[in-house]
Amino acid sequence: MINNNELITWSNQLSCGITLIDEQHKRLVELVNEMFDHVTGNDVQEHDYFNRVIQETVKYIKIHFTTEEKILLVTEYRGYIEHKKEHERFIKAVLENIRDYETGRRITLSTFTRFLKDWILSHIALVDRQYFEYLRKNKLNYIAEKVG
Ligand SMILES: [Fe+2]
Ligand SMILES: [Fe+2]
Repeated sequence: MINNNELITWSNQLSCGITLIDEQHKRLVELVNEMFDHVTGNDVQEHDYFNRVIQETVKYIKIHFTTEEKILLVTEYRGYIEHKKEHERFIKAVLENIRDYETGRRITLSTFTRFLKDWILSHIALVDRQYFEYLRKNKLNYIAEKVG
């Protein structure tokens, strides 16, 4: 069943002030919310929906990571390698979860989406935040705006 408590509400606390990054983060939140909206409790419907959207979702996540990594590289962010590794670990976990979902193991559309949500929210709030602050402190936001 649709559980509206699960939906993410964008808040300015998640915003970093770099237009492109904020737009991409908002789109990620939207994608997660759209997935929650398709939790119906009907396995066939849910799998159908999942198969239709999951590749695009993964593609969008990768586009976002590429954008961020470019910004971190050109602004000589010290945590670049570690941050990139976090992204890679997440993609790996997403792909494993997709396989599990497709082969009917353990997870449902609802738990899959919750996993995306939890990672994305905590990554923006904790890990991305570190580079937001670095850029702000070093007045590098204007460089970040040019990337993408
Ligand atoms: Fe991000
Ligand atoms: Fe990130």
